[in-house]
Amino acid sequence: MKRNITVAIDGPAGAGKSTVAKKLAAALSFEYVDTGAMYRALTLKVLSLGIDPKDRIGVISTMENTSIDFRDNHIYLDNEQVDKKIRENIINQNVSFIAKISEVRAGMVKLQKQLAKTKSVIMDGRDIGSIVLPQADYKFFITASVEERARRRYKELIEKGETNISYENIREEIELRDHIDSTREISPLIISDGAYVLDTTNKTIEECVEILILQMKEKQL
Ligand code: DC
Repeated sequence: MKRNITVAIDGPAGAGKSTVAKKLAAALSFEYVDTGAMYRALTLKVLSLGIDPKDRIGVISTMENTSIDFRDNHIYLDNEQVDKKIRENIINQNVSFIAKISEVRAGMVKLQKQLAKTKSVIMDGRDIGSIVLPQADYKFFITASVEERARRRYKELIEKGETNISYENIREEIELRDHIDSTREISPLIISDGAYVLDTTNKTIEECVEILILQMKEKQL
């Protein structure tokens, strides 16, 4: 019987991870799991209940009464499809506070490990190669310059109709998020051992996907 293959993709916000991971998953017919979406969904719930994202106890007890799952490439929060709501800028601004709580991470990692048990997956996040799937068959670290990442996020938000934003603010928010994600005590964003680093600055999505497929072919597992 063919065994399940696992692909871990990590990297900072706005580097193009999810776009590249989705295309790669489609090309290989693997399941795509966006772990950032899970932290975002919990953030949405916390904010909608009026709980402060820095209130650790409040966040943990919210998580205990929340269901988050993926169905047909959509994310569901308590059975409501929240694909769009979790991409709003208010979520970008608060998700790092939620993602640094150790109990939250433990709960999410457990769910993520479970998802990778039953099928071949491409999972993207910050701690996939280091914590969630340390034995992944392939590990990639996808990055891009801060300016390029801020440009992409700004364009994405403008296209979504957000008006109250400036490029400068988005760049500062990305820098702050990078700082929180890379310096937090638990599972900071790191390039895990054996990961292939891909810088997507000045590369098209197609070029990036091609590079990753080539890397996988070279490794020939
Ligand atoms: O990839 P993203 O921008 O959707 O991630 C949202 C936030 O969640 C980001 O600030 C980092 C955090 N995150 C994390 O800590 N661990 C993961 N595996 C995925 C995301």
